Amino acid sequence: MSTAGRPRRGDGGQVSVRPVPGGPLLVRGADSVADPDGVEHAVERPVVAVCACARSQRLPWCDGTHRYVRRD
Ligand code: FES
Repeated sequence: MSTAGRPRRGDGGQVSVRPVPGGPLLVRGADSVADPDGVEHAVERPVVAVCACARSQRLPWCDGTHRYVRRD
């Protein structure tokens, strides 16, 4: 997991995380996701794409930059 993307749910409900190969983490059921600086970002959709490559310009969210990241 990248430095971004610690999902949280305040009511103790279920949060699921599904990695997309070569792409983001699909987070379902979270109330918020923390960025690398620990700032919590509210989640307002049932599923959000959280950056797993740490190259997004919109951390903690995936902005599609992973498509251009070279993998060795
Ligand atoms: S996973 Fe990092 S920009 Fe998409």
